[in-house]
Amino acid sequence: MKTKGAVLWGVGEKWSVEEIELGDPVAGEVQVRLAASGMCHSDEHVVTGATPTTFPFIGGHEGAGVVTKVGPGVQGLEVGDHVVTAFIPACGQCPPCSSGQQNLCDLGAHLLGGVAISDGTYRIHAKGQGVAPMTLLGTFSPYITVHQASVIKIEKDLPLEKAALVACGVTTGWGSATKVADVRPGETVVVMGIGGVGINSVQGAAVAGAKHVVAIDPVAWKREKAMEFGATHTFESAEAALAGVTDLTFGRMAEKSIITVGAIKGEDIEAALQLTGKGGRCVVTGMGHFQDMDVKLNLFSLTLLQKDLQGAIFGGANPRFEVPYLLDMYRQGKLNLDGLTTNTYKLEDINQGYQDMADGKNIRGVIIYGDEDY
Ligand SMILES: NC(=O)c1ccc[n+]([C@@H]2O[C@H](COP(=O)([O-])OP(=O)(O)OC[C@H]3O[C@@H](n4cnc5c(N)ncnc54)[C@H](O)[C@@H]3O)[C@@H](O)[C@H]2O)c1
Ligand SMILES: [Zn+2]
Ligand SMILES: [Zn+2]
Repeated sequence: MKTKGAVLWGVGEKWSVEEIELGDPVAGEVQVRLAASGMCHSDEHVVTGATPTTFPFIGGHEGAGVVTKVGPGVQGLEVGDHVVTAFIPACGQCPPCSSGQQNLCDLGAHLLGGVAISDGTYRIHAKGQGVAPMTLLGTFSPYITVHQASVIKIEKDLPLEKAALVACGVTTGWGSATKVADVRPGETVVVMGIGGVGINSVQGAAVAGAKHVVAIDPVAWKREKAMEFGATHTFESAEAALAGVTDLTFGRMAEKSIITVGAIKGEDIEAALQLTGKGGRCVVTGMGHFQDMDVKLNLFSLTLLQKDLQGAIFGGANPRFEVPYLLDMYRQGKLNLDGLTTNTYKLEDINQGYQDMADGKNIRGVIIYGDEDY
């Protein structure tokens, strides 16, 4: 079918909204009409070249919508089902999936390869060329044709434009706090970077019972927003937080720190480790340049203070469990999804949306699709 999508033709280019040819589902795939797509910082990393891919490329991985076509051999999904995308497919059968680590599913090896998992061919074409979709999804288009492992069925009465946020930012941020950092009641938790991911680490830490949730961001209104999501203290930089966290903890520093800055640099690691106390854990969720090897950290205190430096993908979540679980938490009023979307955009305004992210105007910008887009 012919539809449209935000295509990137090379590093440093603008998103180009243009006609694309989208294939029908082959065996194991479904087609989904999307209601919304969040604009995560991870797509921006492809624009800057921090994340490598092939071009042309279609962005977007934070989507939710309604199944419109089902390919042969698909199990447990039918036309009309509501789904959220999973930016790591979860096959359910590989060693990580079957040991409760779906965020490390072996199908993740195909994430940035461009071709479909099911048959190794391109499902999207633009100007006659095969298009690589962001994390096998490409939600910057009103329609996607994706593998069944890349979608999670949800209940039909949930608002899709809210559910879309759980596809990446909410689950990643929440899980970084509750699963990977494993925040316990009474702990002091530092979250560095209050965007679509970090704000959810703030609410995850607060719901997990943290005594102090310290939110750090250079943008003043984001620090205020963090307070609405459960932060107890805010600072404009890690450096500015040093004295405050020292005071708050009588010098013990935080049990947990989580780095969710937009484009992580080596120096952010040492800054967070300085805010992390003896036996504490620093979780690295933000992404840096794929070739960046440059981290300087104090080896003496890493060893002698027995600090734990831990990477995290998709918040350590099992999307088949956490996506419905978090939406149920939303239903119960225990997870705030309503306050996450700062601005909504038409697909055609996607470059403005990313400019607003860069200018610190959005916790999350969200593309909303309507009848005129289908
Ligand atoms: N590990 C994963 O699975 C995963 C999943 C999704 C996103 N990410 C990554 O997480 C990061 C955050 O994504 P996002 O969509 O929330 O981005 P965002 O741009 O919405 O938010 C980043 C925030 O960091 C703040 N910031 C920048 N430098 C800072 C610093 N030195 N100290 C404190 N705050 C600083 C910015 O003001 C901004 O509010 C990105 O690197 C993204 O690629 C990782
Ligand atoms: Zn994301
Ligand atoms: Zn798997």
